[in-house]
Amino acid sequence: MSLSPGAPEFADSHLIGMLDGFGLAVKYVRAEGNTLYHVDGEGREIGVLDLASGFGSLILGHNNPHIVEHAKRLLDERVAVHAQFSGYSFGIDVAAALNRIIRRELGTDEKFYGLFGNSGAEAVEIAIKHAEMDRGMRITELLETIDGNLEKAAEAVRGGTPVAQDALRALGVDSFEALAAEVRRRNTETSLRQPLFLALEGGFHGKLVSSIQLTYNSDFRTPFRALAAQARFVPSDQVELAAKIVEEERVALLDVVVRDGAVHLAEQDFPVFGAFFAEPIMGEAGIKPLSAETVRALREVCDATGIPLVADEIQSGMGRSGTFFASAHCGLVPDYIILAKALGGGIAKTGVVLVRESRYRQDFELLHTSTFGKDGFSSRIALKLLELLEADDGAAYRQAAERGAKAKAAMEAVAAEFPDVFKEVRGRGLMLGIQFHGQENSGNEVFREWAEHHVFAFAVAGYLLHEKQIRIFSTASSPDTLRFEPSIHITDEEIDRFAEALRDVARIVRAQDSDALARTGTSS
Ligand code: F0G
Repeated sequence: MSLSPGAPEFADSHLIGMLDGFGLAVKYVRAEGNTLYHVDGEGREIGVLDLASGFGSLILGHNNPHIVEHAKRLLDERVAVHAQFSGYSFGIDVAAALNRIIRRELGTDEKFYGLFGNSGAEAVEIAIKHAEMDRGMRITELLETIDGNLEKAAEAVRGGTPVAQDALRALGVDSFEALAAEVRRRNTETSLRQPLFLALEGGFHGKLVSSIQLTYNSDFRTPFRALAAQARFVPSDQVELAAKIVEEERVALLDVVVRDGAVHLAEQDFPVFGAFFAEPIMGEAGIKPLSAETVRALREVCDATGIPLVADEIQSGMGRSGTFFASAHCGLVPDYIILAKALGGGIAKTGVVLVRESRYRQDFELLHTSTFGKDGFSSRIALKLLELLEADDGAAYRQAAERGAKAKAAMEAVAAEFPDVFKEVRGRGLMLGIQFHGQENSGNEVFREWAEHHVFAFAVAGYLLHEKQIRIFSTASSPDTLRFEPSIHITDEEIDRFAEALRDVARIVRAQDSDALARTGTSS
């Protein structure tokens, strides 16, 4: 059978049709560093400056030579790719290396246990499952305590202690035995309630069955809401509202207590919420770093309620912000940390959830398994990535910070020259966003239509790709924000090239010239 590349007849036909409408359906044939290559009609290779960078997965660039060399060596050495469920996995070394970084950057001595998956969303699902297991075990402990109290009360009743009339009336029963049975029945019913989660408005945590319910964008989320536990969303600049939400959703387990010579009803708070998810730099929301006040409020709510705090560092982690964890900048000390994307060195796929020892439930290791999770190849690549990032006392983090500051200054200069076109530049290190003013009220009908369908930035992307050989996209939930997430090897010349290209876009937008922006059809 010959396999002929060609028309997307059997996969992606709809998607590629949409991309083609903006001239974005280019066929890339090769990638190196910050450059993706396609071949034009005359057979010439055209290099494209890739600022999308695998949606933030390429902290060291496409096919980084050290990573590629290492991968070749691993295969030549016949690394045991599939030997999980044995006395040793390379995941152990990855978790150990990450613990050293946690201690250094997050200032906690507590151990964090690693649980491995194969993608960002899968790692989020693992975190959700672990949090639910933890919640379930806390519920069981509560029910056991209540059972003990029922036993004590039964003993007291046998010794002649009466049951308070208001307790019998409250449950519509006339004996202690009936009261105890009703308490157990109601508690069993309560304990079977689906949990809720807390997450930030605008947040993005993946698109699998449970993780999608923590992702704010309702276009992605609501078609699947019947499949999984729901989140209550909190604005990131008013995290203290979470305390009100927790109060609103408060559910109690029934308990009994022997007090003042009678058996009375009592209540125990039922753990309604599984976890609070937050990205230290919100990516899909439009590249928005959390403020130190937000982080303080997050920690306060979680400490007051016992809800575990989960830092989703899938996009912001691995050095992009100028430290390994973006949490380090805003003082976030989470109970769970999730990593994926760049952890695979740009060529492997891996994700990990790190759980604080005091929150860790070791039985989870027997309940949750995956064929591919912590496989030898991906884990050894992740180790190599960590080695490269940590080399020379963290030179890579300093480089991300320095390159990022330079790029941010260049973008801010453009935004200042065209305040009528650009609203804001945001972000930290090499996780930056530049937001256009909305074009909903543009005098140009095409601009208005693009804005209505949230595809204005796609038109900009098509222009930049064809006229400037620059690949960049918008963030999923803030469609007017271009996301700038190149590797740490971005050069001064590339930053200047991007800034100049932005100026050209700004002139076109200022002139409201949709014809100049519109591109259709593939170029290769
Ligand atoms: N969490 C965050 C913060 C993410 O940015 C993403 C993916 C995920 C979880 C899910 O990871 O795709 O490996 O399953 N963000 C993509 C993006 C969609 O465009 O940056 P995944």
